Amino acid sequence: MCGIVGYVGRAEAPRALLQGLRRLEYRGYDSAGIATLNGAGIAVRKSVGRIADLERLVAEKPIHGHTGICHTRWATHGAVTQENAHPHFDQSGRLAIVHNGVIENYLDLRAALEEEGHVFRSQTDTEVLAHLVGREFDRQPAHTKGALVEALRTALGQVIGTYGIAMIHQDVPGVLIGARRGSPLVLGIGKGENLLASDAAAMVSHTRDVVYLKDYELAALDADGFQITTLQGDGAGYEISQVEYTEKDVSKGDYPHYMLKEIFEQSGTVRDAMRGRLVLDEATAKLGGLEMSNAELRDVERVVITGCGTALHAGMVGEYMIETLAHIPVECEFASELRYRNLPLPKDTLVFAISQSGETADTLAALRESQRKGHRTLGICNNVGSTIARESDGGVYMHAGPEIGVAATKSFTSQLVVQALIALLLGRLTHLSHSEGLNIIRELDKLPDKVAKALELNDEIARIARKYAQAKVMLFMGRQFNYPIALEGALKVKETSYIAASAHPSAELKHGVIALIDEATPSVFIAPRDAVFEKNLSNIEEVKARKGPVIAIGTEGDDHLGHVADDVILVPEAPDFLTPILTVLPLQLLAYHIAVELGRDVDKPRNLAKSVTVE
Ligand code: F6R
Repeated sequence: MCGIVGYVGRAEAPRALLQGLRRLEYRGYDSAGIATLNGAGIAVRKSVGRIADLERLVAEKPIHGHTGICHTRWATHGAVTQENAHPHFDQSGRLAIVHNGVIENYLDLRAALEEEGHVFRSQTDTEVLAHLVGREFDRQPAHTKGALVEALRTALGQVIGTYGIAMIHQDVPGVLIGARRGSPLVLGIGKGENLLASDAAAMVSHTRDVVYLKDYELAALDADGFQITTLQGDGAGYEISQVEYTEKDVSKGDYPHYMLKEIFEQSGTVRDAMRGRLVLDEATAKLGGLEMSNAELRDVERVVITGCGTALHAGMVGEYMIETLAHIPVECEFASELRYRNLPLPKDTLVFAISQSGETADTLAALRESQRKGHRTLGICNNVGSTIARESDGGVYMHAGPEIGVAATKSFTSQLVVQALIALLLGRLTHLSHSEGLNIIRELDKLPDKVAKALELNDEIARIARKYAQAKVMLFMGRQFNYPIALEGALKVKETSYIAASAHPSAELKHGVIALIDEATPSVFIAPRDAVFEKNLSNIEEVKARKGPVIAIGTEGDDHLGHVADDVILVPEAPDFLTPILTVLPLQLLAYHIAVELGRDVDKPRNLAKSVTVE
């Protein structure tokens, strides 16, 4: 939520900053701003709207300099206006700051500063932070880099809340300062240039060597080096890691949208999620990152899976997978609820936190709450080095590569594959036989080709999408493994098309939802050839009897659905527990094409941000 980039080096900062900011647009896009040290002072440009609007402004009224910061905003405090766009300045106008996070006690701090004569130009919590740091800096005996770090340290000591910060001061040219608590901040270590950003994706055109700043750490960067210290003022150890992906991975390539590109990457990402993790000899999965012995895994009495949005839907499929293959009771719970719920859980409960970004505030809080209660926590994350990945006791990376479209697609199928591997591992340690394990491995191995085959339905799905794009309401129905897929299909349509879509277990229709059925309300049934196929079929008949149009997602070779549904999309067959990895693909494409048909901003739907780092 909110994207930050900072640059210090020998190149023109605005170019590097705006290029980086474009890569972070998925984090928020209400307004954007940029500030550079230009020798005479601080040059600033801000605009309401997309980053393209800021780029236009900078092209019309160029700014220069070799040190600068920029920001793309997802509003929390204060309306979407130019005044509230970052960067914000201190009282002297010589310090500029960009911030991601929430300063909870900003009203008290603001009132105290106003008493001292400070004048504020915006309604944001960030401007209060800028004034606070500026005041501390002006109290320092000398205006050096060390003094600026010290001023930030003192100011942060007065702040309650979360922050990822980048800051410049005209009295300390060629220096960029950052700090983090609860909002990600990454240092990019280049040659003759160094960067700061809320996501490494913003920096890959410059460097793939990064340092993930930890909570309560401050960084001071110049063109040739950097120092990291703690909020207490001690030196901090750090590790330079290599970002796995390249610039090509974060560009759209020939696709019109990131969402479509990422949908089409899934044959590869499904393969990558299991690469090196299937052990044929032992007919099991090897997941070293769990950091648990077989004996410890065998002792697991209960599993809790948590996450938000799409990640939660993946967890709901995981619940069915683990219960089916490993016979361990599983509870899947919204992270936003789990964090405040005092679940009575046995001691040997394993808590999985699923998160593509690894930064979602509610998921992180649920993870921390589980740790407080003494449960072992495992992260299923995509972003390497993210907070959830670092704070959990172990975990499994998805290896899906950067996901930039705001609507999650490829991360979802990777989350399903990872959970299938976990279910296989747990199952093989309890009651699954060697041959059952081997069968599962063979089926997993076939998935990437089946995914590719399902995606060949794209043109047909685009045709169906055009037919139903004008619907005001859409219903999604499924059962068992595919009920969470109905939820996911409805979420994809809601967020990309703004159509009111709701999802229900098919059998729940009769208990109320059926009142919505009419000729203008399409129902999407996820009805593969599984153990509940016939039941789904009867539910489809109930809708047809009331003249509701039906789109059915079924299994290749099926000849029943064609008789009852108006439009049928058939995906390759798979064992019941793996069908969600295939049935979700047409739903992603359906949502995509409806959104395109309606002229929506597919990659950046209104009001959304990809990484929700506030509660
Ligand atoms: C939906 C979507 C969101 C995220 C949710 C959790 O397409 O993207 O619902 O799934 O905000 O995000 P992560 O997985 O980063 O924790």
